[in-house]
Amino acid sequence: MSADPYRDPVLYDLEYAGHVQDIEWYRSLLQRLGGPVLELGVGSGRIALPLLADGHDVVGVDLSQPMLDALQRRLDAEPDLGGSCELHCADFRELDLERRFPTILLPFNAIHHCTGDADLLRLLAVVRRHLGPRGVFALDCYLPDPALYARDPNERYEPRTFVRPDTGEKLVSWEQSWYDELTAVHHVRYTYESPDGAEHAVQLDLRMWTHEELHALLARAGFTVLHEMADFTGTAMTEDALQSVLVLTA
Ligand SMILES: C[S@@+](CC[C@H](N)C(=O)[O-])C[C@H]1O[C@@H](n2cnc3c(N)ncnc32)[C@H](O)[C@@H]1O
Repeated sequence: MSADPYRDPVLYDLEYAGHVQDIEWYRSLLQRLGGPVLELGVGSGRIALPLLADGHDVVGVDLSQPMLDALQRRLDAEPDLGGSCELHCADFRELDLERRFPTILLPFNAIHHCTGDADLLRLLAVVRRHLGPRGVFALDCYLPDPALYARDPNERYEPRTFVRPDTGEKLVSWEQSWYDELTAVHHVRYTYESPDGAEHAVQLDLRMWTHEELHALLARAGFTVLHEMADFTGTAMTEDALQSVLVLTA
């Protein structure tokens, strides 16, 4: 089976079910800024659905049709969400909706799907093209983590068990990872073992940027930092921060 991490939205949703701090932060950001909001890499709607429930209009873009289908099923099941939702299956590095937004979001490490500087600059140009006057662009991403990269690639980490809500199947899961210094890509492989012993793996290949590289590229693309934190609780940035939560304008 494919190692595409977005082919099976059920597994994605199970994997990140406990990941909620970012949702609350994006919700409060939108309460201050208002919509409509363009979410790049909207996925299965983990963040978009709460924003819609808060009454914001959302335009969501994603390259993965299975993730968009999962989001559409949820929208169909919840027709009374306050905001309206428009979905586009498209590459966020090539997007042109011929429309501008007061708020653009690139949440939950979607930036790491850009494969290099040129690729990231293409995405940032798309953001600028869609950002209205005094518009705000917010994103969050990981920063390089030497302790994580020191892991033994053959070792199994983060053992967990899940029950698939669609099949009731109990899955045993673990994570393996390795970092390629040459390409600055952190490869993270999640394996899910079914009760019959069958294994299914998905793999995230995350292009990492140092804090300095990221800021240099954002400045080169014409963005100014309004605010930056090291996590969603508001921790101030330090040299060894492992995450960046950024609020920018152009
Ligand atoms: C980590 S998920 C985040 C999904 C959602 N925003 C969330 O917070 O759960 C990243 C999403 O970006 C999408 N993606 C990756 N590369 C993309 C591209 N080039 N254009 C559009 N979407 C892309 C993936 O399909 C995936 O749904």
